[in-house]
Amino acid sequence: MNTKPTNVAARFAARGSVRVFSDKPLENNVLDNILAAASHAPTTGNMQLYSVVVSRRPEALGQLRKLHQGQPCVTGCQALLTFCADLRRFSRWCELRKADCGFDNAGGMMTAVVDATIFAQQFVAVAEECGLGTVYLGTVMYDLQGFRRQLELPEGVMPLFSIAVGYPAAQPQPSDRLPLEAVVHRESYADPSDADIEAFYAARESAPEAARFIAENNKETLAQVFAEVRYPRSVNMAVTEGLKDFLHF
Ligand SMILES: Cc1cc2nc3c(=O)[nH]c(=O)nc-3n(C[C@H](O)[C@H](O)[C@H](O)COP(=O)(O)O)c2cc1C
Repeated sequence: MNTKPTNVAARFAARGSVRVFSDKPLENNVLDNILAAASHAPTTGNMQLYSVVVSRRPEALGQLRKLHQGQPCVTGCQALLTFCADLRRFSRWCELRKADCGFDNAGGMMTAVVDATIFAQQFVAVAEECGLGTVYLGTVMYDLQGFRRQLELPEGVMPLFSIAVGYPAAQPQPSDRLPLEAVVHRESYADPSDADIEAFYAARESAPEAARFIAENNKETLAQVFAEVRYPRSVNMAVTEGLKDFLHF
């Protein structure tokens, strides 16, 4: 067995998100071919509990940029794909066929979220193999009702995130990752010691940009920049309230 990384593995390790795109057009048939390939991703019971809304019209992208907190790649990309957990299509089929569909609950939604996420990441993998650049936009979570209105999503369809896609303006730089032993556990979960945790984050904490982020944000540690500035509790609480309002299970 070949234990060296294959070319594909090397390409995956060198990838990076793309936020600035060239003007090179992305033809509809190319996008559709990638989506068709991605739709062969594994899906719970082959039910495909997901949908994706493809936005390409400039006016629509302008509106979506506002909803995405002004992120410039929304209007700079060739297409914005908003991936949704979709319990509606399957449950309507069940209704038509006199089947009692039991997905109208948190368990069902969890299944749909997993399915939609696998589909989306397969889209990213195929798109990047085709020379396209992509970036996920999680800002959907900040205004679920706004995305619902903009994309005319009916009951049972929850937007999860968007992916901006287009040809990269420049080759993306791969970003760092934690060492593999931080995320891989052999046979059972090895709860790390404090010293392990410090070792896992050491390279990231000693990178030159860490000192800059800390100084810019007037903080003492990089963890504070992540937890208190970029992803503070208040934002997660607001997202939690938005989810309660949206899901009402
Ligand atoms: C669910 C999700 C949401 C994300 N949301 C955003 C976003 O709103 N804006 C952005 O610029 N990048 C976003 N990203 C991209 C991450 O910042 C990026 O993947 C991470 O920093 C690692 O960098 P890399 O993809 O270049 O390896 C998101 C990624 C994921 C998976």
